[in-house]
Amino acid sequence: MVTKRLLVKTWGCQMNVYDSERMAEVLAPLGFSSTTTPEDADMVILNTCHIREKAAEKLFSELGRLRVVKQARADRGLPMVLAVAGCVAQAEGAEIAARAPYVDIVLGPQTIHRLPEMVARAGRAGGLVLDTEFPAESKFDLLPGARSPQGVAAFLTVQEGCDKFCAFCVVPYTRGAEASRPAAAVLAEARGMVAQGTREITLLGQNVNAYHGEGAGSLAVLLRQLAEIPGLARLRYSTSHPRDMADDLIAAHGDLASLMPMLHLPVQSGSDRVLAAMNRGHTADDYRRLVDRLRAARPDLGLSSDFIVGHPGETDADHAATLSLVREIGFAGAYSFKYSPRAGTPAARAPFQVDESVGDARLRELQALLLDRQLAFNAAHVGSVFEVLVTGAGRHPGQVAGRSPWLQAVHAEAPDSDPADLAGRVIRMRAIGASANSLSCVIEDLAHQPREKHAA
Ligand code: SAH
Ligand code: SF4
Ligand code: F3S
Repeated sequence: MVTKRLLVKTWGCQMNVYDSERMAEVLAPLGFSSTTTPEDADMVILNTCHIREKAAEKLFSELGRLRVVKQARADRGLPMVLAVAGCVAQAEGAEIAARAPYVDIVLGPQTIHRLPEMVARAGRAGGLVLDTEFPAESKFDLLPGARSPQGVAAFLTVQEGCDKFCAFCVVPYTRGAEASRPAAAVLAEARGMVAQGTREITLLGQNVNAYHGEGAGSLAVLLRQLAEIPGLARLRYSTSHPRDMADDLIAAHGDLASLMPMLHLPVQSGSDRVLAAMNRGHTADDYRRLVDRLRAARPDLGLSSDFIVGHPGETDADHAATLSLVREIGFAGAYSFKYSPRAGTPAARAPFQVDESVGDARLRELQALLLDRQLAFNAAHVGSVFEVLVTGAGRHPGQVAGRSPWLQAVHAEAPDSDPADLAGRVIRMRAIGASANSLSCVIEDLAHQPREKHAA
């Protein structure tokens, strides 16, 4: 088979990262292997995100650069198939075709399984192949069953789409309606990943805790089924909606040992007025009570969140309510964004849009506080001993890198061991230093750790 080179560039959430891996897998049988150099690429896929304004701008500037590369290759008699995938493609397929007529393929997140056929059509007919349907079939049923090796810590999409329609958000329009994969398919994919060395799996979904797939019925049951897989040491899930945090899932945080004590549970704002305008369906107090119940089940649980500042109608008092919620909860980490109006969403049409400069100032203030909380969370671990999943070699010679139960990046000296040999092992370490983004650790008892076996 002729070897062809594929370059996939990914923006946006972890589900896009997952889709990018799946697109590479579906193209592998056509002879594509990966490259990072556009000049060498017989095919380039830009997997895009539409969540905020800059994302689309980045796409068009990237396309401008690739146009030049594509022309240079054409001058040497070499083709380049240029595809735009993901949420910008879904939302603005026609605009991409108009603004960048040298693009060959535009496909949405739900049609990635049809990529080989699109490549064939683009090669035969020329002109644009556009497929942004929400097909009746699920892409998951038609993607290859076997995954390529995913590394020690990997993602697995179990749920997609969203029916929540938060006033500011494009996701329900770009990813489509909420849908869950059957448990059997998830378990088979997880077993395959573990057989290839994966030790930690993060289950993904836009609303992962709304999971209700056949054969499990709830995320808690799915987690319990996954916890039975030998060799799968750790489980996480992301992203959850406060409204879907069911009793059985809260209970799982208390009694499922492999479920890690870190939860991404976006609250978006600390003001009830803003939460109502956002159509979030919960108040700040609902969130506080939920956190209390989660911490009762799992006292060392770390929480992270997403925040939007400058949502239409947000006043200084609303912003102050967000800051005070942050102080109260003490988030271990968070993503925070300035509101970006998205065409077609209710918030974009709302009166009382907040001034850009006010939004900028609020964002700076919130981010400074969040960074401070994050550092405090990390610093609180100094001196304690916990299990670290080693993911590979660290940045410096003789160092290993890994992740703590709370998803903190960890580095530790392992002078007498080959870091590659330790990858995939869960090792007890003691934290001796903390920064906002990582923990520095020492290995406690490497000699006594049996080498963990991967499931065959
Ligand atoms: N399903 C997840 C979030 C998906 S989008 C959830 O409900 O939490 C990731 C984050 O992007 C959101 O949590 C929100 O904080 C941010 N976001 C979404 N739309 C936005 C917009 N129009 N402007 C700014 N931030 C936005
Ligand atoms: Fe967007 Fe809200 Fe759905 Fe999250 S829950 S994806 S923020 S609409
Ligand atoms: Fe972006 Fe689409 Fe994910 S808009 S955040 S890539 S669901």
